[in-house]
Amino acid sequence: MSLKVKMMTAKEVDSGLLAELHQKCFYRGWFWEEFENYLKNPSIQFWSVSQDQKLVGFLLLMVIIEEGELLTFCVDPACQNQGIGRKLLEAVVETFRMNCGKEILLDVAENNASARKLYDSLGFEPFAIRNQYYRYANGVFEDAVVMRLKIK
Ligand SMILES: CC(C)(COP(=O)(O)OP(=O)(O)OC[C@H]1O[C@@H](n2cnc3c(N)ncnc32)[C@H](O)[C@@H]1OP(=O)(O)O)[C@@H](O)C(=O)NCCC(=O)NCCS
Repeated sequence: MSLKVKMMTAKEVDSGLLAELHQKCFYRGWFWEEFENYLKNPSIQFWSVSQDQKLVGFLLLMVIIEEGELLTFCVDPACQNQGIGRKLLEAVVETFRMNCGKEILLDVAENNASARKLYDSLGFEPFAIRNQYYRYANGVFEDAVVMRLKIK
């Protein structure tokens, strides 16, 4: 079983495939048009992780000068909790560090224990709370925790 992490070129991005995977992972997954729009923005990096050449996860990172913002990050539910997300995020952080990046910010739902555990273990720290930032289909709101990784 081989895992491959890479930053995709625009030509390699298949927005339909990303949307399909995103919708499996989030209560309100993004549509392919949203990925197409992000593709037009040269500040946004598309990272993929494939297992035996099948896309199993991806991450979008916006980089403006020395600041990074993680826009989205997911691993196929069938492949979660096997170390794939960690491998992807570690590769992204390492590349960002080598390119002289100074900090990465992200938003995570307060109750998203598995993602928060992963971010904690990589050194991200809670930085602020966005009150009632997420709204679910049942009308329930949830706070977002803004986390920050300072690159050493
Ligand atoms: C968050 C996500 C990308 C992590 O990817 P993953 O491949 O499942 O993560 P990993 O297997 O690399 O796990 C990394 C760590 O997360 C934690 N973790 C992962 N799944 C977990 C689970 N089901 N329960 C508890 N902790 C879990 C563990 O601490 C694990 O650490 P370990 O390596 O010491 O065991 C993935 O779970 C996902 O796509 N979730 C749905 C979308 C989402 O919430 N994205 C993040 C939005 S901010």
